[in-house]
Amino acid sequence: MKYLVFDSKKEASKEAYKILKSLIDENSTLGLATGSTPTALYEEMIADHKAGNFSYKNVKSYNLDEYVGLKPEDEQSYAYFMKEHLFNAKPFAKSFLPNGMAEDADQECERYDKLLEEYHVGLQLLGIGRNGHIGFNEPGSSFDGKTHKVALTQSTINANSRFFDNEEDVPKYAYSMGIGTIMKSDTILLEAFGKNKAEAVKAMIEGPVTPEVPASVLQNHPDVVVIIDEEAASLLK
Ligand code: F6R
Repeated sequence: MKYLVFDSKKEASKEAYKILKSLIDENSTLGLATGSTPTALYEEMIADHKAGNFSYKNVKSYNLDEYVGLKPEDEQSYAYFMKEHLFNAKPFAKSFLPNGMAEDADQECERYDKLLEEYHVGLQLLGIGRNGHIGFNEPGSSFDGKTHKVALTQSTINANSRFFDNEEDVPKYAYSMGIGTIMKSDTILLEAFGKNKAEAVKAMIEGPVTPEVPASVLQNHPDVVVIIDEEAASLLK
C-alpha cells in the first residue's frame, strides 16, 4: 500500500485527480464514494471537464452505497449528493447506485450485484470511516462480502449526523457494496483528511489485517494509493 501525504485537502485532491486522470480513459468504469472526503476531487474533475480537457461521455460509474429509506430527491440521499457534486455538471454514460427505496432488501442486493457484473471497475475511489469502514462495510464485515443491507454503527450514525438536522433523522440502515466487490477493482484510490481519521488511517496502514478494521483488507490488494493530509497522517510511524 503506497501512501502520499499533503499539506491540505486541496493539494491532495489535485494530486488525486492527476492519478485518476492517468488511470482512466473515456471508456472506463469508476467506483465512486460520497461524503465530505471526495468533494474537492469531484471539483477537479468538473473543472477539467469544463475546460474541455476530458470527456466522460462513455464513462460508467457505480456508487458504493445508499441509505435505506431515502428517495433520490431527498437531499441527504447519496443519489442527490452525487447529482449535486458531480453528475449535474458532468453526466456519465451510465451511473448506478443502490435503490434506497427498494421494497425487498434481498432483491435489491441481488439487483445491484447483477448490475456490478456488467462493467469492470478499473478505479475505485474510497473514503474511510473513523471506525475504519470502507463503503458502509462496518467493523466485523466479511472480506468476501457482496452487496448487503447494513445496520450502521453508532459511530457512523454520529459521524454522519452532521449532514442531517437531527441525529434521529440519520437512517439506521444502508445498502453497501461488499468488500469482496471492492477488492476486485484494478486500482483503489483512498483519500482521508483531518485529525479524526488519523487512528483509522494508522490501523489501515500499520495495523494487522482484521475484519475489525475493514480498511486493513486493502493491505492485501496489489494496487492501492492512499492520499492523506498531515492531520490524517499524524499517527503514522
Ligand atoms: C460514502 C462511503 C463512506 C465514506 C466514509 C467517510 O460513500 O462509502 O465509507 O467514505 O464514511 O465519510 P466522509 O468523507 O464524510 O468523512
